[in-house]
Amino acid sequence: MINFSDKEKNKFLHELYEFLKIPSISADPSHKNEMVKCSNWLKTNLKNSGCDKVKIIKTKGHPIVYGEKFIDKTFPTILVYGHYDVQPPDPISLWDTPPFKPVLKKTKIHPHGAVFARGACDDKGQMFMHVKAFEWITKNTKLNFNIKFLIEGEEEVGSDNLEIFISKNKDLLKTDIILISDTSMKSNTIPSITTGLRGISYMEITLKGPNRDLHSGTYGGGVANPINIMSKLIASMHDDNMKITIPGFYDKVIGLNIKDKNEILKSAINISDFKKSIGIKEIYGDTDFSLTERVATRPTLDVNGIYGGYTGEGSKTVLPSEAHAKISMRLVPKQDWKEISELFKQYVLNFIPNSVTATIKTHHGAEPYVTPTNSKAYEAAILAYKKSFGANPFQQRGGGSIPIVPIFEKELGVKSILMGFGLDSDSIHSPNEHFGLFNFFKGIETIIYFYEFYTNKIST
Ligand code: BES
Ligand code: ZN
Repeated sequence: MINFSDKEKNKFLHELYEFLKIPSISADPSHKNEMVKCSNWLKTNLKNSGCDKVKIIKTKGHPIVYGEKFIDKTFPTILVYGHYDVQPPDPISLWDTPPFKPVLKKTKIHPHGAVFARGACDDKGQMFMHVKAFEWITKNTKLNFNIKFLIEGEEEVGSDNLEIFISKNKDLLKTDIILISDTSMKSNTIPSITTGLRGISYMEITLKGPNRDLHSGTYGGGVANPINIMSKLIASMHDDNMKITIPGFYDKVIGLNIKDKNEILKSAINISDFKKSIGIKEIYGDTDFSLTERVATRPTLDVNGIYGGYTGEGSKTVLPSEAHAKISMRLVPKQDWKEISELFKQYVLNFIPNSVTATIKTHHGAEPYVTPTNSKAYEAAILAYKKSFGANPFQQRGGGSIPIVPIFEKELGVKSILMGFGLDSDSIHSPNEHFGLFNFFKGIETIIYFYEFYTNKIST
């Protein structure tokens, strides 16, 4: 076990707080300068932590931060990927404390305390564990591998510019393995390694009816209401057993093989805990599959936001001229996000009546990914968890997406290892996001062991 000194712990946490104070919201153009500030902060921290070479790479969007310490070309190289951008904190009124003023609070699940702030877990806190694990190794032992940090500012908006950078910088990014902490684990006593991510296709539909908002009494009944049509359209996208009705949607889905299914079901979700944790009376979805499969290994279609008409205080009688819906589809092997986006468009265009016109925008997309479980890196990860948690990690599939992971494989031919230390209850993307102190320091410890086992310098 590694016992970090109080001085070390305080230093790491103080720095994490500074990092979390910068509102690096990638989706919001008004935060462009904060993104630059955050990337510079990280560059300086990487340098102070022991990187020899650090640089900011400007892109058409937000900057990429690169850092490296190259020891010897006979040593293995590990590339750490993470993101410094965060999701918008809205709705702000639901935060107990401001999203960019990190505070430490104890919770039932985190009795040693958790840092509450947007990005605490996803992904500033988790990515920062790697920077501090690296710092600890350079200060306390000897680095027997080469390390490269590739930290982007656009993960939460699809990673388009990072993809371009990777395709043009294959030599710079040459590595043996990619290590990422941007997923979750089962619980603080049951660690898990994520062996798959879902893909995504994110679409936005705009339906336009009359050329202005109308009095719903004068015109109602004779004019198509775009919000009514949008509701019908959205409702039609699932059948009674929650299967998605878009023709061809499931054609390429290969499903889980029995071995993987058994592996994943070894740590199946406890339905009553699940319901309790998010305050629902009953679970929902495709009854042909267990809850564990539904939330990680099956494709989905969800409306993320819908707007139009009057949503202010009180009532207003209006037949709106427009309706908007933001819809994401989570995808599984071998669905292709561009193909699915096209099927979605065709479905919408075929569905809507001539009384409204539709514009369909593709925001971004990502392919699904499954990691190998028979590699040296996977073995090293298992040994690392065993040593730090004293427990064998389970295999789990992540229901979320990390767009760059399949691109790493396509462009660099390198696999990723997904060692997440957050909990599903840490409220990523929600108000009151947090990250346990236990998780932060256990994560750093596990990462240090991973390097030891991966480089074969330490035996079990
Ligand atoms: N950390 C998540 C990905 C994640 C969450 C993986 C939970 C597994 C389990 C990541 O930062 C994220 O939220 N990604 C976005 C990507 C999208 C905007 C393209 C997502 O999944 O919504
Ligand atoms: Zn996220």
